[in-house]
Amino acid sequence: MKNDRISSLSPVSLPPPAFLLPRASSLSVVIQIRETADIVHARQSSRQVSAAYNASEVETTFITTIISELARNILIHAHSGEIQIEDSIEDGHAGVRITARDKGPGIADLRRALIGGYFNCDRMGLGLCGVQRMADEFHIESNIGKGTAVTARKWLTGPLDKGSQES
Ligand SMILES: Nc1ncnc2c1ncn2[C@@H]1O[C@H](COP(=O)(O)OP(=O)(O)OP(=O)(O)O)[C@@H](O)[C@H]1O
Ligand SMILES: [Mg+2]
Repeated sequence: MKNDRISSLSPVSLPPPAFLLPRASSLSVVIQIRETADIVHARQSSRQVSAAYNASEVETTFITTIISELARNILIHAHSGEIQIEDSIEDGHAGVRITARDKGPGIADLRRALIGGYFNCDRMGLGLCGVQRMADEFHIESNIGKGTAVTARKWLTGPLDKGSQES
């Protein structure tokens, strides 16, 4: 069974990058993706998390676009799955970590999917490639017949919300 992983942190991605290791998080929202309305819900959650961490308009747009693209991929290519949005605080800096998980068909050629232009008649094939460029850290793991997990982290430049604590 093919198991493929790609990380923009480490081309040879074993062990997983540090930002994927389990750690305490003060905020975690999980949105089940089963229909188009769930993408709208995920976008709303993205804006709420971004606001809670004083994200700029540009950062909020990046985070919301990443979430939209990953949720759309779940819906179109895997039919159902979930998006998890978490805060990610290290050394006094806040970030938002987005994880998209599904148990769909998996991606046969990850490298090709990430180059962009993995298009067919209906789609441009630019979503994953765009997510990788918008994210500060990116990791994808896909198993044929078992599913796909994508994790993207975006660091924020603004001051931490006073209720946020380093974990
Ligand atoms: N969650 C997923 N499960 C299975 N296959 C996926 C998943 N996400 C992406 N893919 C595969 O990777 C390819 C590239 O994804 P990408 O998001 O870049 O393009 P797209 O969804 O085809 O088009 P676009 O996002 O530009 O509308 C897809 O065409 C699809 O074959
Ligand atoms: Mg897509």
